[in-house]
Amino acid sequence: MRFLAALVMLALSLSLTESVMVCYVESWAAHRHEKFDVEDIDPNLCTHLLFAFAGITSDGEISVLDPQHELCDNGGDCAFDRFTALKKQNPELVTILSVGGWAEGSEKYSKMAADPAMRKVFISTSMALLKEHDFDGIDMDWEFPTQRNGMPEDKENFVTLMGELADALHAEGMILTAAVSPSKYTIDDAYDVPGLAEHLDLLNVMTYNLHGDWDNYVHHQSGLYPYKDDTGNNKYLNNDFAINYWIELGMPSNKIVMGMPLYTACWTLDDPSQTDYYSPAEGTYSFNYYEFCYNLKMHPDVWVIKTAEGMNEPYAYYEKLWCCYENHTSVAIKANYAKEHNLAGMMVWSLDLDDYQGKCHDRNFDLIRTMVENFSGSDEVQKSQRR
Ligand SMILES: *[C@@H]1O[C@H](CO)[C@@H](O)[C@H](O)[C@H]1NC(C)=O
Ligand SMILES: *[C@@H]1O[C@H](CO)[C@@H](O)[C@H](O)[C@H]1NC(C)=O
Repeated sequence: MRFLAALVMLALSLSLTESVMVCYVESWAAHRHEKFDVEDIDPNLCTHLLFAFAGITSDGEISVLDPQHELCDNGGDCAFDRFTALKKQNPELVTILSVGGWAEGSEKYSKMAADPAMRKVFISTSMALLKEHDFDGIDMDWEFPTQRNGMPEDKENFVTLMGELADALHAEGMILTAAVSPSKYTIDDAYDVPGLAEHLDLLNVMTYNLHGDWDNYVHHQSGLYPYKDDTGNNKYLNNDFAINYWIELGMPSNKIVMGMPLYTACWTLDDPSQTDYYSPAEGTYSFNYYEFCYNLKMHPDVWVIKTAEGMNEPYAYYEKLWCCYENHTSVAIKANYAKEHNLAGMMVWSLDLDDYQGKCHDRNFDLIRTMVENFSGSDEVQKSQRR
């Protein structure tokens, strides 16, 4: 067992010398109008593919949330097996099952993590499911310890759970990652950072939704740096702060993966002549990147595209609709930041929201491809795509 663990660590340290591109895939994209299924994934684009999501039962067992889609039983669609079979096309690809997500809530996880017997049940049922479907690890996406009907003890229990889960995974040559909050107050309450650093192979910091439809003004949901007029708590709501805070509290930079939203955040402006950050507005529905970029492309005359002073990220407005998003330039700048700050790499939420059909750009998955190219400093990916 110790030998295997040593091999895992060696493999990890080798793979970490190159930047990771961690890509979540929304399983429910297979049911949406613009259907995106496993076969739409380019297996040579991301280093890590994360299947979102599995859940847990009230007894703490891992649970398959959409068995008809994910399993083969009863004429099911076998999405788990088709997903992990992408490794046949790219043997270096790491396929991970992500457990949790916003919709799962926090309470069941809080209960499970607090109870040694339930933790055992979670870990043993998880290991069995991973092996049955040939996954290479777990991404723990508990949103969030101590929050949303969690309890103060979650902070300690989360680390205990991660330690036991990491031991079980590493013994089988698998890895453990976690998706975590970018918010200072949640980080303070929820995470024992040195403890997590000991157990996690990668930390996916969800540096998006930093502003959103709950704000009664417009702003960017994933600014790399603070905006000149940010004051108080808003000074913390940017990628640079979140990443540095995790590092300051003890997370090694080379385990940190910086998150990138491939969707917009949108508001309806109170007054269409006031469009700068902090203009009064009411939150409204957001778009997937592939549909938003297509709208911009088809109606270049109606949209006004801008960047706020001192910021890198674009926003666009049309009459009263105001949306922040990411483009080729802003993702390159963030990937470059990850590289320069010796981070592990970048994460996207999510692969299926990029321009996967190449309707906006002269190639598919332009935003993810741009980040990978920036890491490698070459057009290698583009070449492998053409092959
Ligand atoms: C991205 O948006 C910024 C801000 O509007 C703009 O300066 C830049 O040219 C855009 N990049 C591309 C590739 O369109
Ligand atoms: C990476 O992005 C930075 C910032 O936009 C840019 O200066 C640099 O040229 C890019 N490198 C590559 C290889 O694309």
